[in-house]
Formats: sequence, structure tokens, C-alpha cells
Amino acid sequence: MADNEGNLEAKNFSADVSAESGSFFLKGNSHADWGVQNRLARIFNPKSGNTVMLAFDHGYIMGPTSGLERMDLSIVPLIKYADCIMCSRGALRSVVPPEMGKPVALRFSAGSTVLTELNNECLVGIDDAIKLDAAAIAPMVAVGDSNFEAKTVQNLAQCADYTARYGIPTLGVTAVGKNLVRDARYLGLATRVCAENGATFVKTYYCEEGFEKVVAGCPVPIVIAGGKKLPEADALNLAYKAISSGARGVDMGRNIFQSENPPAMIRAVRAVVHEGMKPNEAYQMYCDLSGAR
Ligand code: 5RP
Repeated sequence: MADNEGNLEAKNFSADVSAESGSFFLKGNSHADWGVQNRLARIFNPKSGNTVMLAFDHGYIMGPTSGLERMDLSIVPLIKYADCIMCSRGALRSVVPPEMGKPVALRFSAGSTVLTELNNECLVGIDDAIKLDAAAIAPMVAVGDSNFEAKTVQNLAQCADYTARYGIPTLGVTAVGKNLVRDARYLGLATRVCAENGATFVKTYYCEEGFEKVVAGCPVPIVIAGGKKLPEADALNLAYKAISSGARGVDMGRNIFQSENPPAMIRAVRAVVHEGMKPNEAYQMYCDLSGAR
């Protein structure tokens, strides 16, 4: 209990030292609420400014896809190498040990599956995201889908309202339909639409031509998905090029959990993302760690 007598006099005001006004390390978020910045600083490493997010939310539309048949066996051992995990609430509750203490980007939209018409999604309840201590909520946004564009952008806007109310960042996840080309023009439009509608950060795909323009035209940080499984050397090259072009990290799934050696792969990806390791060195690291060659 506080005493009202005998207290030491306060005298260490350092009046000659001006207080830092502070600026946040991630673009577009300097004016975000303390809670948003705190959660972002758990997802992104404040030293490198980057993140390695491990995505294993694929089952919510694809079922038990290769590498995710037994997430308790394949994914849980990888979590310690990730800065953040991205998954559904079902996967989180059923297989992820809470004591691992990793920030969670919670898959926050759900609806149709690969068996029907993709992109017809509604949002998960915010109460559950709060209960699960989500570090981010991640709705899918289908820009260019004539059936579900408006609905999914509305979902994102609803998430941005939750961000403003509860301090939980929104990760806009750009879904690219089968008939759309993943070029800089499309990706630039899709990521910008997410940011303008309130996404705190955006997940999209890398493109060979003009990715730096996609990054520059998006006022909040971009992380890239890995996409379909590539040979390990190519996936490390992809991560390197994305980071060199201004992406602030990866949100990678199949290229990690479908790798010949997932622990070696995620460690090599970390070296690229956080240390700027060149892709050939990172591939050598992957080989050394996996005992290959
Ligand atoms: C699935 C997703 C995945 O999280 C995203 O595509 C990243 O995974 P991958 O690196 O395998 O592409 O949004 O719906």
C-alpha cells in the first residue's frame, strides 16, 4: 500500500534531456494505437524489421493437404523457429501448445472450400479472437472476383473497425482468382485496396516484374506468401528477391512444411529474411542442416 509519509523526494527529472517523441519501425503504422504497435512488434522483429510467419491455415479450405495431415507431428516442431504462426482457430486449439508463446495471426474468414466456389466467406467472431489473444486477424480479400469482391472487401473493412476498437491488427490476405494474372498491376491494386480499406499489413504474392512498385504503392508493410511448392533453392531465391524489393517478411506455408526437411528450410528462410543471407548461401545452409549433398 502507498505511504503518505517518509517518501523519498522525486528529483531525477533529467530536465536537460529531451524526451524522445518516437516513431514506429513499420511503415504506415506510426499513428496506430499502442496495442496495435505492441502486437505488430511481436509479429515483426523490431531489430530486422522483418518477420517469418509460418502459415498452416490451408486446411480450412483444402482439408488435410500434403504436409498438414498430422499438424501435431509436422507443424508443432517448426513453431519454435517462426516469429508468428498463421492458422485457423480449430488448428490453434487442437494442436498448438499455448505455452509456445508465439503470436498468432488468426485466419479470420471462412466459408466455401475448394470443392465449391471459393471466396464466399464471412468473418469469425471477434470475441473468439480476443479470447485467443490473437496478435492479428486475417481475412481473405478477393479483389477482382465479380461475385465476392464486395463481400470480402466489406469483411476487411469490418476487421479494420475491430482493429480500431480492440487494437488487434488486420492482415489483409489477397486471394488471386484462377483467371487473374499475378502481375505488378493486379497485385499493386489488390494490396492498395486492402491498405486503403484499413489493413494494418498485407499478405500477397511476389512477382518478377515490378514488385518494388507493388511495395512502394502500398502504404503499409507487405509480407509474401510462398505459393506452390518449389525446389528449396528456388523458394529461398523467391524470399530473397521479395525482401530485397522491400517486403517485410514471408508468410510461408507449403515451401516450408512440404520441404524435404522442414526444420532446415525454415531456418534457412530465417537467415534470408532476418540477416539478408544470399540465396546460394541460404541453400548451402539448408543442405548442411539437412545433411544433404
Ligand atoms: C491459404 C493461405 C496461406 O496462408 C498462404 O497461401 C500461405 O501459404 P503458402 O506459402 O503455402 O502459399 O492463405 O489459404
